[in-house]
Amino acid sequence: MENMRRTVTCGELRKDHAGTTVILNGWVHRKRDHGGISFINLRDRYGLTQVIVDSNSNPDLAVLIPELKMEYCIAVEGLVRSRPDSMINPEMETGSIEVVATKIQILSKAETLPFVIDEKTNASEELRLKYRYLDLRSGSMQKHLILRSKVAFATRQYLTNLGFLELETPTFIASTPEGARDYLVPSRLYPGHFYALPQSPQLYKQILMVSGFDKYFQIARCYRDEDARGDRQPEFTQIDIEMSFVNRENILNLVEGLMGYIFKETMNVTLPTAFNRISYDDAIAWYGTDKPELRFDMKMKDGAFLAQAGTFQTFQDTLQTGGHIKALVVPGVADKYSRKLIEELEATAKIYKAKGLAWMKVNKTESNTPVLEGGISKFFEGKTEEICATLGAKPGDLLLFVADQKPKTACTALGAVRTKLGKDLGLCKEGQFEFAWIVDFPMFEWNEDENKWDTAHHMFTWPQDKYHATLESDPGSVKGDLYDLVLNGYELASGSIRIHDPDLQKKIFKIVGFSEEEGQKKFGFLTEAFKYGAPPHGGIAPGLDRLVMLMAGETSIKEVIAFPKNSFAQSPMDNCPSEVEEKQLQELHLRVEK
Ligand code: AMO
Ligand code: AMP
Repeated sequence: MENMRRTVTCGELRKDHAGTTVILNGWVHRKRDHGGISFINLRDRYGLTQVIVDSNSNPDLAVLIPELKMEYCIAVEGLVRSRPDSMINPEMETGSIEVVATKIQILSKAETLPFVIDEKTNASEELRLKYRYLDLRSGSMQKHLILRSKVAFATRQYLTNLGFLELETPTFIASTPEGARDYLVPSRLYPGHFYALPQSPQLYKQILMVSGFDKYFQIARCYRDEDARGDRQPEFTQIDIEMSFVNRENILNLVEGLMGYIFKETMNVTLPTAFNRISYDDAIAWYGTDKPELRFDMKMKDGAFLAQAGTFQTFQDTLQTGGHIKALVVPGVADKYSRKLIEELEATAKIYKAKGLAWMKVNKTESNTPVLEGGISKFFEGKTEEICATLGAKPGDLLLFVADQKPKTACTALGAVRTKLGKDLGLCKEGQFEFAWIVDFPMFEWNEDENKWDTAHHMFTWPQDKYHATLESDPGSVKGDLYDLVLNGYELASGSIRIHDPDLQKKIFKIVGFSEEEGQKKFGFLTEAFKYGAPPHGGIAPGLDRLVMLMAGETSIKEVIAFPKNSFAQSPMDNCPSEVEEKQLQELHLRVEK
C-alpha cells in the first residue's frame, strides 16, 4: 500500500482551513479515549494538531485506535473543523481547529520508549545521549536546533552581503601548539606521522589574508582535547572571521552588526548598536573576571582605606605587606543574609583561594542613624559614616571583603562571590542580553610551573604599538591588541589584530621560549608566507554553540548540539570512542599498550 503523503504540516492549520480535507503525517504525541471518541495530538517539528477519531461512526478506525501507541508514526486523513469558542486552546498554535479523521495509516510502529517525549526531557543525561534521536524529538531540543540553523543562516546572510567569502580550510593539518591538546589522526602512508585536527582555522585564515581574500568567514568545526565543561565540548563550532586592512574598531563594529542582525532576525530582539568596552584591568578590578556577568552592576571597590580606618589586623597586615583589599556592597540584603548564608559565600571565596570573607552590615539605630554591625564591625567603631560614604553603602546593605597578598586572588575570589550573589538573588533576568567587549588584555602571562612567559591568547597577536620598544625588556606590562566579546558571564568570542611582520613574530616566539629552529619547524610556513607581502590583518571567532546556548537561555552547550559528547568525551549513542580492528592498527603502524 502506498503511504499517505502529507498535504499540510502539524503546525499549519488555522480557522481559515475549516471545511478542507487534509492529510497529516506525524508522531502520536498523546492519545486520550473518551467512550468511543479519541483525541490524538499529532506532532511534527512544525507543531501539534488535535485529531478526533469517532469510533462509533467509523468501524475501520474503531479497530485501529487501540493499536496506536505513543510515538507511532502515522498518517491521518480528515476534515478540518473549527472548534467551538469554548474549546479553543490558546496554548496551541493550531488550537482553533481540529481534524476529524476519516482514514489513518500506521507508517511505523514504536516500541515502549525509555522516556516520555515532552517539552523538556526529564531523563538522565546518559539516557538522553544514548537515545539522542528520541531526545531530539522533545519540544526544547527541536526549538534549539531550529534556532541554531537560523543563527547559522543569518550569519551567512549578513557576512555574505558585506562581501565576505565563505572559504573552507582543511581538517587534517599539521600539529601546532595552540593552547589545548590536539586530536591526532595517524597517517597510513607515513609511519609515525600524524595529522592533527584543527583547534581552530587560525593559521589557515591568516594565510588566506596573505593570498588576498581580505574578507573571510567560515562556520568552522574545531577540535580540542581538553576537559569538558558546561560551555566546552571536544568538538565545537566557531563563526571564524578574518579581515585585511582593518583596525580593532573595524572588527568590533563588524561583530556588533553581526550580533545585532542575528538577534533581530532569529529572535526579534533589538540589541544596542555598540557594546560597552571594558579594559581587562577594569574587568578584573570591578568584577574579578574577564568574563563578567553584566545583567546586574554591583562593581567591587577598593578597600585599601579600611586598613587605616580601623584596627582589623588582617587588613592592616595585608596592606603593609603590599597586598590588596577588595570590597563589595550588596544592596538591601542585610536582613536576608544570616551567618549561615554568609558562610556559604565564604566557602565560594575559599574555592578561589581567599583566606576568608570578612563582612559587616549597615543597620539603623533607633534614632535612624546608620551603624555598622556584625562581623568585623567591632574594629571600625565610629567609622560608619566614612566607610559608607567611601563605599557608597546605605542602611540595609551587606558589606563583604577579601584581603589578599595577590591582587588577582582578592579580585577573583570576591568576584566569584559577586557572581554567586547574582544567581542567588535572581539578578540575572532571562531574556536579557548584556554584551561587552573586554579589551587591552595583557599580551603575556607568567607560567609558574615552567617559569616562563606564555602568550595570553595566541602567538600571532599584535602587541599594541606603544609597547614595541619594551617588548623584550618588560613583557609583563605589554598589552596585546586583542579583544573578547562577553555575554551574560560567558566568553562568547575572542580575537586579535595579528602580527604580519616576520621579525616581530620571531621576537614573540623568542619571548615565549621557542627556539628559532622550533619556531621554524612548527610555524615556518606562516613566517615564510609573511615574507611575501603580508597585509595587516586581524580577526575574531565567536563560538556558535555558546551563542545559541545563551540565546536559548541554557547553561550547557549540549542543549544546542544535535550529537554532543558526554562529560567524559564519549558518545553513548554510537559508543565512540571505540576500539578498532587489529588490522586497522597494523595498517596505521600503531600498537596499543594497555
Ligand atoms: P579561542 O580559543 O578563544 O580563539 O576560541 C574562540 C571562541 O570559541 C569558543 N570555544 C569553545 N566553544 C565550545 N567548546 C570549546 N571547547 C571551545 N573553545 C573555544 C568560545 C571562544 O570564545 N583562533 C582564535 C580566534 C581568533 O583569534 O580569531 C580562537 O580559536 O566561544
Ligand atoms: P579571624 O580573625 O581569622 O577570626 O577572621 C575574622 C573574619 O575575617 C572571618 O569572617 C574571616 O572569614 C575573615 N577573614 C580572614 N582572613 C581574611 C582575608 N584575608 N580577607 C578577608 N576576610 C578574611
